Amino acid sequence: MDVFEAIKTRLEVRDYSSEPVPKEVLKEVLEAGRLSPSGLNTQHWRFIVVEDRRDLQELADISTSGKWVAGAAFAVVILTNPKYPWHLIDAGRVVTHMQLAAWNRNLGSCIYTGYDEKAMRQKLNIPENYHIACVAGFGYPRRRIIGRKRRLPLESIAFSGRMTQPLT
Ligand SMILES: Cc1cc2nc3c(=O)[nH]c(=O)nc-3n(C[C@H](O)[C@H](O)[C@H](O)COP(=O)(O)O)c2cc1C
Repeated sequence: MDVFEAIKTRLEVRDYSSEPVPKEVLKEVLEAGRLSPSGLNTQHWRFIVVEDRRDLQELADISTSGKWVAGAAFAVVILTNPKYPWHLIDAGRVVTHMQLAAWNRNLGSCIYTGYDEKAMRQKLNIPENYHIACVAGFGYPRRRIIGRKRRLPLESIAFSGRMTQPLT
């Protein structure tokens, strides 16, 4: 799939079919994360893959804004090292790459950031020196994705030279 086409068409998917995801596709999603750029090429991120149904349900139970992860084929918990001031930018790039690579393989995905942090650390053995940036859930969409991105028009978010100057 053309990269811009993927950017244009991808919507967040929170409702997944029970179709299993081939290992090779899962690995490709992780590989897209591994290949992401990071500040000073520090590559401080770490990924925890959760595939077991009971573990996915537990992730859902301790989440506040990602209950849908219970139905995902797998989830990836993305950790970063907060000693780097840019660590969350790096996390954003990782997750974007993963989600676009997934979309290219017809795999839907979404991320969530609301969870009981203490419970998550305990459950996944995450040490204090790692920040939990987000959890991404992946799976084949249960139904055909029809929808439209609701985004602000370019003229209201991009400017020319100065913020007082509209983009022409
Ligand atoms: C930083 C960030 C945090 C998000 N947190 C959540 C979340 O906690 N739960 C959730 O269901 N979706 C979450 N989302 C998904 C957004 O709601 C979604 O990207 C946005 O509504 C656009 O969706 P669309 O691309 O399908 O139009 C998050 C997205 C981002 C980028």
